[in-house]
Amino acid sequence: MDELIIRNGSVIDGLTPARTTRTIAVSGSRIHPLEQLDNPDTADTIDAEHLVVAPGFIDVHTHDDRLVMSDPTMTPKVSQGVTTVITGNCGVSLAPLCGVEPPPPLNLLGDSNDFRYSTMLEYRDAVERFPPAINLAMQVGHSTLRAATMDDLERPATADEIGRMGELLDAAMAAGAIGMSTGLAYAPAAHAPTEEVIALVSRLKAHNGIHTTHMRNEEGAVLESVKETIRIGKEADVPVVISHHKAGGKANWGKTRETLRRISEAQQVQSLNLDVYPYIASSTVLMAEYIERAERIIVTWSKSHPEMNGRDLAEIAGEWGMDLFAAADKLQPAGAIYFQMHEDDLQRVLQFPDAMIGSDGLPHDEVPHPRLWGTFPRVLGHYCRDLGLFTLEEAVRRMTSVPAKVFGLRDRGIIREGAIADLVIFDPRTIIDSATFESSKVPAEGIHTVIVGGEIVWQNGKPTGRRPGQVLERVVM
Ligand code: ZN
Ligand code: CU
Repeated sequence: MDELIIRNGSVIDGLTPARTTRTIAVSGSRIHPLEQLDNPDTADTIDAEHLVVAPGFIDVHTHDDRLVMSDPTMTPKVSQGVTTVITGNCGVSLAPLCGVEPPPPLNLLGDSNDFRYSTMLEYRDAVERFPPAINLAMQVGHSTLRAATMDDLERPATADEIGRMGELLDAAMAAGAIGMSTGLAYAPAAHAPTEEVIALVSRLKAHNGIHTTHMRNEEGAVLESVKETIRIGKEADVPVVISHHKAGGKANWGKTRETLRRISEAQQVQSLNLDVYPYIASSTVLMAEYIERAERIIVTWSKSHPEMNGRDLAEIAGEWGMDLFAAADKLQPAGAIYFQMHEDDLQRVLQFPDAMIGSDGLPHDEVPHPRLWGTFPRVLGHYCRDLGLFTLEEAVRRMTSVPAKVFGLRDRGIIREGAIADLVIFDPRTIIDSATFESSKVPAEGIHTVIVGGEIVWQNGKPTGRRPGQVLERVVM
């Protein structure tokens, strides 16, 4: 069995608010006492002096459904110390959907050639046949279910269609999915009434599933959307996670005061959590509704005008002699970054008790939002070390044991004997995101070594080529 010893590191276990210098020994895929190693003298040894050893980070909000296959090194994530990603967010999953032209925002994951798994089991088999460097836990997207079962997405689903979606959902859960996400803000699900969502989320209960949501509104009606989300969780009696919580648009800045108050109230009586990414700009497909409230818009990809990738929409519109809306129309299909949040709201959400970190990175965008490569080091370097929003132990806890508990990832997110050796070794003095809005595909600084299931997947600033990643199922603890 492969053995590994990490000496002299400052160990942050992911759970307790303390740091201890000690040796971590790994045998096979798990952490064991040093005495139990068979060959401690010949085991691979890492000297972690002046470095922190922590559980690998869990990226709770990703769109990596296809990336795990198209780039199994998972470099954008593993270079940040991430060892597990939760896929299928915002109502969008790669499976189960086959032979259909994916409507926006499903096309964030690819085109009709990429949507080729008619069941979650087929998708899982494809991933496991050639596994990635890091782990994934799969969610089913409500919009994907709609696209797979409905001929017209601009109406509520009929009882028959809800039944058919429910069967697909049951099958996906049986294949190891952990839950269902919704993206009620987006066209494919915007016409789904709350009752449709409750009917589907209710089916998760029998599977011990979880529900995550890109809420119907994150702007003027964000408080109403929080209330809708709370109602869905309560009536379905299923744990809920509010994705990338924010208040978008100048007129709505400050509204997180009220939403967070409402969320902590609900937390007294039901399971409710949230995640956040550490930026004041959002990113998704290019949509007319978003144009007016954004202070600045950068085009991340355009199928029809790829020469405009990475440029400001205002500049493009100026060159073309048209308004922003006409220019956006001409760029379709396309994606964009929208500067539309306030730093105070962002910091308020980051400081909310047990707020988890999710990158929401869009790995197939040509000029992606820097959150794809920078999220975790930015929280640790900028918000924790430089601004002092929380202690390093607390920041690590939000990235490890909190998400492991919320998403039911047993023996992950913690350093203790018997736990799986998903680990990151980083330099707390230098860790920082390097990805910027101008140049976003840049690995962060300060990540020394990343270990997944006892195997080193990232070292010396590059992937090792090992692919020990697994599909993780949800275990309610
Ligand atoms: Zn979203
Ligand atoms: Cu998302």
